[in-house]
Amino acid sequence: MTRSTWNSRLGFIFAAAGSAVGLANIWRFPFVVGDNGGAVFILVYLLCLIFIGFPVFMAEVLVGRATQGNPATAFHKLGKTKMWKWLGKGVILTGFIVSAFYSAVAGWVAGYLGEAFLGRLSNFTTPGQVAEHHEALLANPIWGLSVHFLFLALCTWVLFSGVKRGIERSNRILMPMLYVILGVLLVRGLTLPGALDGLSFLLSPDWNELTPQLFLIALGQSFFTLSIGQGTMITYGSYLDKKENVLTSCIPVVLLDTVVSLVSAVVVFTIVFSVGMTPDSGPSLLFQTLPLVFSQLPAGGLLAILFFLLVFFAAVTSEISAMEPLVAYIVDEWKWSRKWAVMLTSFGVFLVGIPCALSTSLLKDWTLFGWTPLELMIFIGSSILIPLGGFFAVILVGWVWGVNKSLKEMKEGAGSTFERYPKLPGYFALCFRYTAPILIAIILMNALGIFTWHA
Ligand code: PHE
Repeated sequence: MTRSTWNSRLGFIFAAAGSAVGLANIWRFPFVVGDNGGAVFILVYLLCLIFIGFPVFMAEVLVGRATQGNPATAFHKLGKTKMWKWLGKGVILTGFIVSAFYSAVAGWVAGYLGEAFLGRLSNFTTPGQVAEHHEALLANPIWGLSVHFLFLALCTWVLFSGVKRGIERSNRILMPMLYVILGVLLVRGLTLPGALDGLSFLLSPDWNELTPQLFLIALGQSFFTLSIGQGTMITYGSYLDKKENVLTSCIPVVLLDTVVSLVSAVVVFTIVFSVGMTPDSGPSLLFQTLPLVFSQLPAGGLLAILFFLLVFFAAVTSEISAMEPLVAYIVDEWKWSRKWAVMLTSFGVFLVGIPCALSTSLLKDWTLFGWTPLELMIFIGSSILIPLGGFFAVILVGWVWGVNKSLKEMKEGAGSTFERYPKLPGYFALCFRYTAPILIAIILMNALGIFTWHA
């Protein structure tokens, strides 16, 4: 059986951008910026992106493209030992865990989209009312399970149709719609009275917030948002044809992802400031602050629908990408048909997602170290396993496969790009070998409490 590929470079760009742009851009980025000093955070975030996030992204796509294999096969081919194969399997497991908690949380977004369509998100008058509505939904186990199920069922259906017809096509439709909705919301935000207050908060740095902790948060954000460290970009890279230019396929993805994060922050800040509120309420920003804001704006009901539609599309295209590494593994290694591989993956994701989906209701007292199953899985997945996955990918490329061979792979299909920019190899060699692995090791040790770095 010949391996699936994208129709074109554009197919990869759409799919990889669809994967990258998700809850982390539209929901998490604005509140993390709001909580961590506005422009200072953005600055540190951009630095993390240039020296760690982007190189790791490139490393993963190269590993995939060079081997044309799922993460386990890919790590094995380049690392040559059994240990690397196991590490590759570990990376696939990370993707599986991410898919499970992501589906539970994205399920809430799907449920909120339903609420928006029913006109229930735009007639609140007090913060107490929104909180009560939110808590009532989350405390209902049937609601939690059904939205998890429905969201996953939709993703399963997309994955069923294959790489080109399912993943590529859905991204080609959903991503442009997402940009249009984001554009409409941006214009709405910027034309609201008081929008300037939001912008000036976003653009004026609060240097007191510049702590080592801030670097850690920025790094974690950049990994999660770029979908690296858990096999997605290795797998999407493996569907990229050898004649395509890896560099110019990856740069637009990272740029798009960054632009969507920044624009989302502008949208949220201008809208929230226009009604005299502040976007520093943490995760409840999406489900509580915004519905209250929509209640006070003209045509708020419509804005609520548009906004949750935007977040929903972004979540679908990310979830399918988190599941694809395991699907690819089952197809490649066990020689199952794609349909059965998708069925098994979805079933597993559904089961493991159940405790997450019930973490705010039936299982809310089932805690370990004070964390519910959902919080625990988010912590293990995004603060430990994802940085580990990125670390091993970049060690593999920088030290085992080697900078020379990886640069050769990067040049294949790249035409004259490298002649035009002669400094590129030096930058990648530096990042692959030193800046990325060293800085990732620092965040990891910090997350594990092996060493804590205080300002
Ligand atoms: N990048 C996605 C987001 O920003 C999340 C994601 C992580 C998707 C890892 C796939 C893999 O929401």
